[in-house]
Amino acid sequence: MTVQLIDQLSDRTLLKQQAYVNGQWLDGNANTTFAVIDPATEQVIANVANLGAAETRAAIESADLAMRDWRQQAPKTRSDLLERWCQLIVDNTADLAIIMSAEQGKTLAESKGEIAYSASFIKWFAEEGKRVYGDVIPTAQTDRRGIVIKQAIGVVGAITPWNFPSAMITRKVGPALAVGCAVVLKPAAETPLSALALAELADRAGIPAGLFNVITGDDAVAIGGELTSHTLVKKITFTGSTPVGKILMAQCAQTVKRTSMELGGNAPIVIFDDADLDLVIPGVINAKFRNSGQTCISANRLIVQEGIYAEFVKRLNIAVSEFNFGAYSQSDSTHGPLITAKATANIDAKVRQAIADGATVVCGGKASVAAGYYYPATILTHLNDTMAIFKEEIFGPVAAVYSFSTEQQALDMANDTVFGLAAYVYTENMRRSWKFAEALEYGMVGINETAISAEIVPFGGVKESGQGREGSKYGLDDYLEIKYICMGAMDK
Ligand code: SIN
Repeated sequence: MTVQLIDQLSDRTLLKQQAYVNGQWLDGNANTTFAVIDPATEQVIANVANLGAAETRAAIESADLAMRDWRQQAPKTRSDLLERWCQLIVDNTADLAIIMSAEQGKTLAESKGEIAYSASFIKWFAEEGKRVYGDVIPTAQTDRRGIVIKQAIGVVGAITPWNFPSAMITRKVGPALAVGCAVVLKPAAETPLSALALAELADRAGIPAGLFNVITGDDAVAIGGELTSHTLVKKITFTGSTPVGKILMAQCAQTVKRTSMELGGNAPIVIFDDADLDLVIPGVINAKFRNSGQTCISANRLIVQEGIYAEFVKRLNIAVSEFNFGAYSQSDSTHGPLITAKATANIDAKVRQAIADGATVVCGGKASVAAGYYYPATILTHLNDTMAIFKEEIFGPVAAVYSFSTEQQALDMANDTVFGLAAYVYTENMRRSWKFAEALEYGMVGINETAISAEIVPFGGVKESGQGREGSKYGLDDYLEIKYICMGAMDK
């Protein structure tokens, strides 16, 4: 018998099914709800309040009122509250991980890792929020002083994805609250429960009502339309696909809102003949199969030099044969399902197309027919840069392996994409490391390393992978306006 999600939690009050607006738990528009599905079992695990444009508007207005006082508080006051929120997240890791795994499908180990990652953004920005320094600028006139201060940008609309249901929220809400903004958040309809659990803990931490609002709903167009058109919203921050990001940017143009966009990727891993395969294989496993391949910085194209190609494919195949795809409730699961049946069908269609284009299937390659949205670890070889799969973000556990002979060919292949989020290189050659680090047209480059994300470093892309940086000291900038003050008549 399946144990209900609520019965798996030591603190049952962390499972919320109402939205959180202005410090109140709210039912949906005319009491409607939408279902949240466990992707491992295809069972409904919760029915969550379905809000729309009217509730979003009310949340924006209460956020605007709440931040009038919040922005005037001492940074230390805001920081102390954020620290308290962070501690509650850490203290409740076990329950938060179960909630996340149930709605997203990732293993409990991955969910616990994400909760730690999520908390780290709150902690980091609680500290960084105390360091919003200004400048004094020497002027050409002796009677003047130029001063620069930085101020909270205003109400922030945040739209977050299902692949990291907690960390992508705190990476946005942490800096926003730390500098004095308020947030109206629309979490993905697939994974609202992690967002609501975060809201419950923010409430317990004493974050004042109206500063962190969670609008749950399955009508992304209505909620997103309100967030992007309301004049009180000064900034939209979004993590998701490039096509949706472009729509949001176009909508934001009408009221000239600031945007931060963390969009799609098509990450290459370039592996040279001189690379240490003992380093490469675990690096590729992390970059390709973390979260079952559903990561924006997933290695999408494995570009391997001819001399090492056969050995690499052989060793990768051995490593993936040890994977065990299964539900989070099974202790031996190493990887979870994909998020939806649609995601599984999309991956399958890409694999079928690659096979039709001439690819060879080394392992996997067929969607599971059992319950749950599973797709097996798949390795494809005999690929080239003219195939559709070279240009598309796969977003699943499919390793597409290409070959190259010269350094220039590898660089050209790596940069031959409209995306520019993350890239990786494996080589023992220092000159080549520097050359690739500088010449790769990406926001992030890992040299002999694929675990590159952390709260202390800037995450973000170039080209059609987006704009803005999250995490690190730079992560505050997107939530701040620069104001120049000219102090005149100073020698009177
Ligand atoms: C993402 O997939 O966008 C987030 C990945 C990360 O933070 O490492």
